[in-house]
Amino acid sequence: MQDRETQILTASDRDLDRAAQILADGGLVSFPTETVYGLGADARQGRAVAGIFAAKDRPSFNPLIVHVASLDQARRHARLDGDALRLAQTFWPGPLTLVVPLIDGHGLSELVTAGLPTVGLRMPDHPVAQKLLKALDGPIAAPSANPSGRISPTTAQHVLAGLDGRIDAVIDAGPCAVGLESTIVGFDGDTPILLRPGGLPAEAIEAALSRPLARWEDGSAINAPGQLSSHYAPDASVRLNAETPAPGELYLGFGDRDGDLNLSPSGDLVEAAARLFACLHMLDGQGKPIAVAPIPDTGLGRAINDRLKRAAAPRTL
Ligand code: TXA
Ligand code: MG
Repeated sequence: MQDRETQILTASDRDLDRAAQILADGGLVSFPTETVYGLGADARQGRAVAGIFAAKDRPSFNPLIVHVASLDQARRHARLDGDALRLAQTFWPGPLTLVVPLIDGHGLSELVTAGLPTVGLRMPDHPVAQKLLKALDGPIAAPSANPSGRISPTTAQHVLAGLDGRIDAVIDAGPCAVGLESTIVGFDGDTPILLRPGGLPAEAIEAALSRPLARWEDGSAINAPGQLSSHYAPDASVRLNAETPAPGELYLGFGDRDGDLNLSPSGDLVEAAARLFACLHMLDGQGKPIAVAPIPDTGLGRAINDRLKRAAAPRTL
């Protein structure tokens, strides 16, 4: 996929305003953070977020980290209290992502959170990322700016090597200082859990909390049913590749195959990706089995089908 010209922008105020405008218009901008270069989209726009997965050619939908300019901005989207608040106050801005509960009216695309009731938030410690967030005055979803399966970029040249022609712009502000993704901490009730080691050492977090972090790999509490499963699964049973619904089934359509809901009447995979989790949530609330129309297994369709296969898999809990 080489579908657009990638502008190379500087860290000047004028260029950062331009980058913010591209994001506001639903485009993709790679920007430096202290950890690695991120591939950013406006986290409130589903189609823009779907564009991240398309540009990276990512075959599955993981929840993405949402970058914010301040604690106040974080609180427009999620609840930060207790240890989460303490960690934000101690380590933000910096290479720490906190997975915290969304609040009502959070305004984020469901694709960003992969349909989960939580979101990973971080305030980056890089003047360019900070200025960009302020210029947009909104949250930026950003995984590392590399094609799926390749190493994370720490310079604009790395970004271009992987994504030239697939994104709208990259802001070149030199190499990243940390060079390693952020540390991710989530919470199981009150227990803080290290979900991903990264740029902020776990020891520093444990010192700030005066207690050890649970590790994602160990501990029974962490495997408590549903608590931390990092993927939303509908309660309803899901049947895939359904040409037509059976009696009693709700039908999630695609393209010409219309149904109770349609992922994209025009058969656009980007639109379908943007609407996937919202549609599943809407149908799941109705207490009936769900049948899903066939989705082409190309481009973003692969990520959609991966997600749907997991939704249709027999429940283990
Ligand atoms: O340093 C970084 O963190 C870089 C720079 C660009 O900021 N960003 C980054 O983002 O690595 P990303 O989107 O690739 O990180 C996604 C990971 C997921 O794979 C998952 O491990 C975790 O963040 N995550 C995000 N939201 C989550 C949630 N609601 N529940 C559990 N894990 C979550
Ligand atoms: Mg990555």
